[in-house]
Amino acid sequence: MRILVVGGGGREHALVWKIAQSPGVTEIYCAPGNAGIASLATCVPIKADDIPGLLAFARQTTIDLTIVGPEAPLVVGIADAFQEAGLPVFGPYRAAAQLEGSKVFAKEIMQQSGIPTARHVAFTEAGPALAYLEEHPGPAVVKADGLAAGKGVVVAADTAAAREAVTAMFGGRFGAAGKRVIIEEYLEGEEVSILALCDGETVRPLLPSQDHKRVGEGDSGPNTGGMGAYAPVPFYTPEIAARVEEEILRPTVRAMAAAGHPYRGVLYAGLMLTREGLKVLEFNCRFGDPETQPLMLLLKSDLVELMLAAINGELAGTRIAWYPGAAVGVVLAAGGYPGPYVKGDPIIGLDRVPSGVEVFHAGTALVAGQVVTAGGRVLCATARGADLPAALDRVYDGIRAIHFPGMHYRRDIGRRALKEAGSKGSETRS
Ligand code: AMP
Ligand code: GLY
Repeated sequence: MRILVVGGGGREHALVWKIAQSPGVTEIYCAPGNAGIASLATCVPIKADDIPGLLAFARQTTIDLTIVGPEAPLVVGIADAFQEAGLPVFGPYRAAAQLEGSKVFAKEIMQQSGIPTARHVAFTEAGPALAYLEEHPGPAVVKADGLAAGKGVVVAADTAAAREAVTAMFGGRFGAAGKRVIIEEYLEGEEVSILALCDGETVRPLLPSQDHKRVGEGDSGPNTGGMGAYAPVPFYTPEIAARVEEEILRPTVRAMAAAGHPYRGVLYAGLMLTREGLKVLEFNCRFGDPETQPLMLLLKSDLVELMLAAINGELAGTRIAWYPGAAVGVVLAAGGYPGPYVKGDPIIGLDRVPSGVEVFHAGTALVAGQVVTAGGRVLCATARGADLPAALDRVYDGIRAIHFPGMHYRRDIGRRALKEAGSKGSETRS
């Protein structure tokens, strides 16, 4: 089989790494890919949102399966375009990808199906939104309806900050994505990412994972695309998992099918475990980044087989097998990230990373034979171990080999889980 992976970040590197282990796969292409992906796949210089370009390439190369990493091409209909051309594609159609592409749409689906989520009000104009904030003082969460490259959510500590966010969004900060704005109640609790394979009807959740969104240790500083993730999540008990499947995942997939938009692909539910119970913070229409990196190290089953089953409506006949233990991915970011950062700095030590640590590339490029930084999130060092402490020891040991100017990373990935599990040694692991 010839596979095309669309995208060029750490998530796509981890997917390519896993796909390369599938016995039926003969060739892998990645568009546009990155310096790390280039060691496993043929990188083609086509942007992830250039749908006509990708379609022409897939036709010409007789690609058997295209796997779409990022949300942007899914939300504008890459899966529809491939399907119309008779090319198998893993990822939801445009209408189904609205679950991520429009927060108002996602809230409507949740309300119709009684899926627990934060209380919210949607606005199409600044005036009523600002008036609402005056009537409901205190912390609030302000969200642009459409895609905003991960920056469309403002968790406002007070009314002044919420007002500023509303004004900026209606003022055009996110273009058309901010034409509608949601104000929702501020929730507190542990977050967990549940990614599930869906075939339109059947839902097969992957192991639970937890991202670390803030740039700084102890969850301090601004939000990022994600600074690290581990799986599985100890507080996510089998009882919670069963409820999430019954009360969130299956009703969502049923509601999408009933609305005429059967959901095929990965459904990513961002959940918060609050005192009042589980609530959905968001849906994404794709694999998470960096959650995918540890998940791919834990997945034992053939990923390509599972994806084909999802496309063909045959997930009911599958079982997903996992390696025992835990895995963790730690993002190595460029100096300044998530603010402005430099690109083009040489990365050294990648050849000295001990075996057992996979260094997935997120933002890298090859310039005159040298791997250089090319993004804010540069690498994601990932390791599996018999348990979370073992995986953490392995990954942080591996990171010591790597260096680039300004490199920074969180030393406390997975630490809260260790504390909760009452594990000794969590204090020394820094
Ligand atoms: P979203 O893109 O909706 O997941 O939002 C990004 C991040 O903002 C989430 O991962 C949470 O950390 C935070 N967030 C979103 N909604 C809420 C909420 N209602 N209360 C508190 N934090 C939230
Ligand atoms: N890790 C967060 C996301 O993929 O949206």
